Amino acid sequence: MKTENRPNRHGYHTFTLGAFGFERDEYFAHVAWTNGRHLMQIDAFLRALQRDVAWGFFYGVVNFDGVIGTMNHYGTVDLFAGRFNAHYRKAGLDYVETFETPLLQRVFAAMLEDWTNAAFDPFASPEETGSAFGPKNGANKRAITRHRVTARRMVGCPGDETTRSDENGFPINRHFADVGQEAPDVEPEPGFENEVVAFNLFAYLSRSDVTWNPSVVSVCKASLYCPTTEEYILPVIHGNDRVEWFVQLSDEIHWEVEDRDSGAPRARVVMKAGDVAAMPADIRHRGFSPKRSMLLVWENASPELPDLYASGKMPPVPVEF
Ligand SMILES: [Fe+2]
Repeated sequence: MKTENRPNRHGYHTFTLGAFGFERDEYFAHVAWTNGRHLMQIDAFLRALQRDVAWGFFYGVVNFDGVIGTMNHYGTVDLFAGRFNAHYRKAGLDYVETFETPLLQRVFAAMLEDWTNAAFDPFASPEETGSAFGPKNGANKRAITRHRVTARRMVGCPGDETTRSDENGFPINRHFADVGQEAPDVEPEPGFENEVVAFNLFAYLSRSDVTWNPSVVSVCKASLYCPTTEEYILPVIHGNDRVEWFVQLSDEIHWEVEDRDSGAPRARVVMKAGDVAAMPADIRHRGFSPKRSMLLVWENASPELPDLYASGKMPPVPVEF
């Protein structure tokens, strides 16, 4: 839904959606709504926007920063300013508008495409991409429309998502040069060749070309294994609407954990290889990974969970000591 067919003086289109307006210049994304305005540095904004678009608004709240973000209601999505910021709320400056998911998806995807220059890859680590700044300079549609891995059963199963190799365009990342690439031996009984499957998850992750992008590699009913490789800073502050389990598979991530609704600090968690954490359903979190690391995010996709937590029928933590 472009307001202007002509780009602004920096070469970028301006977008409106309800009472929200979005504009970019050489350094910033400017967001305006009925009773406020905000800006974010454009590289951070595009990294957050990329995840929101690619994940279909994900679970719960995707905060682009402490002010702007989206909340998924699985069919509709809230676009908000200051909704999860105690000070905006107290001052009566928060604003929320609800959209049908396909409309917000379409506008965000168009904005991401228009505002991403040829040199910039919003999914890549800062060391592995060029600059997001400056006037409009080409496009990078290939980077922003990457295939999202969503296995129906498991990576490597017949007809399902494929494993990664040099041949299919996934070389080993520079930070994972020491990760073994051996494939497991599988010896199924005759007739079970399509049923018994295994792959080397570490080798698979060592060839990930993106950061902070949980991919579904195995599915057992509502239980989804969503491993990801992380480097630099999680581009969104994720507000949970259910418990998420984290298993640190390699290296180290520092997590800032805050109250989901107010943003008040709750914990700082340093996870080293082998550490396991359950992130509660009432928090939001942002991770910092000093070098590329492997993280297994274990999601429970049961659709009834958000209501159970929101109504207090389930405690926000999976275990109480
Ligand atoms: Fe989360």
